[in-house]
Amino acid sequence: MGNGRRPLVAGNWKMHGSRAENTALLEALLARLNRVSAEVLVCAPFVYVSEIATRLAGTQMAVGAQSLCAEPVGAFTGEVSAAMLQDIGCKYVLVGHSERRSLFHEDNGLVARKFVAAQSKGLVPVLCVGESLAERQSEQTFAVIREQLDAVLAAAGIAPFAQAVVAYEPVWAIGTGLTATPEQAQEVHAFIRGHLAKQDATVAAGVRILYGGSVKGSNAGELFAMADVDGGLVGGASLKADEFLQICAVAHS
Ligand code: 13P
Repeated sequence: MGNGRRPLVAGNWKMHGSRAENTALLEALLARLNRVSAEVLVCAPFVYVSEIATRLAGTQMAVGAQSLCAEPVGAFTGEVSAAMLQDIGCKYVLVGHSERRSLFHEDNGLVARKFVAAQSKGLVPVLCVGESLAERQSEQTFAVIREQLDAVLAAAGIAPFAQAVVAYEPVWAIGTGLTATPEQAQEVHAFIRGHLAKQDATVAAGVRILYGGSVKGSNAGELFAMADVDGGLVGGASLKADEFLQICAVAHS
């Protein structure tokens, strides 16, 4: 960390929670966040985003969604548009999470269109990239991530990255208890920043790149200490107030 980028710790609740559980978790976080210097974000299931946005207004926490529709409006049953998310006070949206890519067949082209849809309505897209275990083992990591980034760069250009976040989440580390080593994370984060810098060095120097994949209170400190790791995207550990607060507390510039 460092370099003037304010750390961001984002919880991705995935399809967990209920109104009662969310309230208990948020109140526990809000009661103890005053000592945290990082920006803190929770990405909730769509149906809870509005209520959470109301509760978090004026606090140091923000709310995000976990996906959105690439289309602006129309006959897309079951989908939620960027304008709708903006309308209810949502600030951030995950784009291209690996579960969306693998379970819901979102390819690089669709992810790029979602990124454009989000930023065109003033939402901050959190663009998730990362390689599978097979891709890492066959030394495809950089090629895979380059393709994931290039699809978005082709659709959106570099300028929107000044208002975007990138999250590196190696698929093999998500929900597995296997975490990338700090050196593995740093290597890919530096690659991502370097790739963006080929388009615009200033934008690349300012973009926050989060690490995700089995981040816990016990490993967050060493990951966040790396030069190009600007915080975390946290799944399972974001559902437990104590653990998430511990992660937030070690994210400082
Ligand atoms: P875990 O922290 O549970 O590994 O999940 C990571 C993730 O997918 C966050 O988006």
